[in-house]
Amino acid sequence: MKLWGGRFEKDTDALAEDFHSSISFDRRLYEQDIAGSIAHAAMLGRAGVLTPEEAERIIAGLRSVREDIAQGKAELEKGAEDIHMNVEKLLTERVGSVGKKLHTGRSRNDQVALDLRLFLRAETDKTKDLLAALIQALLALAEEHAETWAPGYTHLQKAQPITLGHHFMAYAAMFLRDMDRLTDARRRMNYSPLGSGALAGTTFPLRREEVARELDFAGVTLNSLDGVSDRDFALEFLAAAALVMMHLSRLSEEIILWSSGEFGFITLDDAYATGSSIMPQKKNPDVAELVRGKTGRVYGDLVALLTVMKGLPLAYNKDLQEDKESVFDAVDTAQKCLLIMAPLLRTMTVHKERLAAEAKKGFMNATDLADYLARKQVPFREAHAIVGRLVLLCGQKGCALEDLPLAELQAAAAEIEDDVYDALSLETCVRARRVPGGPAPEAVREAIGAARAEMKRLYGE
Ligand code: ARG
Repeated sequence: MKLWGGRFEKDTDALAEDFHSSISFDRRLYEQDIAGSIAHAAMLGRAGVLTPEEAERIIAGLRSVREDIAQGKAELEKGAEDIHMNVEKLLTERVGSVGKKLHTGRSRNDQVALDLRLFLRAETDKTKDLLAALIQALLALAEEHAETWAPGYTHLQKAQPITLGHHFMAYAAMFLRDMDRLTDARRRMNYSPLGSGALAGTTFPLRREEVARELDFAGVTLNSLDGVSDRDFALEFLAAAALVMMHLSRLSEEIILWSSGEFGFITLDDAYATGSSIMPQKKNPDVAELVRGKTGRVYGDLVALLTVMKGLPLAYNKDLQEDKESVFDAVDTAQKCLLIMAPLLRTMTVHKERLAAEAKKGFMNATDLADYLARKQVPFREAHAIVGRLVLLCGQKGCALEDLPLAELQAAAAEIEDDVYDALSLETCVRARRVPGGPAPEAVREAIGAARAEMKRLYGE
């Protein structure tokens, strides 16, 4: 008979049983489920709802169930529906009818809300560890390439020269924001819903605060209806994970572009690339492509749960059982992608000469020439037009601005003197952009220092 079978006269239809059952995926919550049950039973003992002896027997039984599930020795049954009822069933098989007292003052509704919070809290911490490793890899690359000249783009057209270190720091900034978001989400997630009961709390004198403290929560949730039906904490994690994936996807896209023959800025290590079954010459950036592709899954997970939640009346509805697979998939996908990206970046070869050569092309010092004229009191808008005409001239002659003889430059603007060649050199152009947050080597080094301080604040190292 089902644990809830008292008022039923017939067995569940086999199809319906299969349809309800979530054990195939929520078995993943067994540790959280048992930790929550142990804290609940201990509190029932202290509060005098159970005798100390009963609480002890239940707790010992729960520990042995946990041990057996961990070792794959316990059989989890589809018919027992979910992890909560499977654990209770296993417990009662072991400790006898005292096991049936565990569920006093509790519902699966507050139980599952608790389990998912405990699970996501731990996974948020793991995700932060992986983010930290990726940020460290980016900071190391930024340091190494603080003076590696590189082309900067807008519209994927050459725009202004930068340093490669600066480019890496852009990603470090994105992932630091992700770290901040996860830290923030964790803070709001960290409240215990236990004691909310099915929807309306309980008549037993539960000590909610004590259980919360035991499970390392910052406090208890405010309202029992919300306590059982709120999944904001999961949505916030999913939203943060979706942004992590979006950032990883952009980085992946650049890795894919940069490793193409057309760009030739980097070569991926053999260990992080794959070949083709037909074209012997191929070395493909599959890892980066998969990361880019998996971004869609995590967006899907976020939208799936948002859609499940939309329009749900208070309080618990079985729709909420659909939260778990989205959460698990997003956790697994984001963590796997974060994990592989750090070594992929660390092991790639950067072609500095090629980057510098490309940084000299495409009139990327045109703004610098306009700035040069502006410093000589030519209004910037006029300077822009003058340089535009010079770019046109260079296009016809097939040369760069700095290849034009002084006389030709002066014909365009009398203010130009022979110091212009230094002003137009790649190195001058980049080094001059030392505004905070800019690409000059010293600005990049300052940004690395600021990023390390932010890491310390968010992560403690
Ligand atoms: N397996 C359920 C879930 O994941 C547990 C809560 C079930 N509660 C209920 N009243 N049917 O949401």
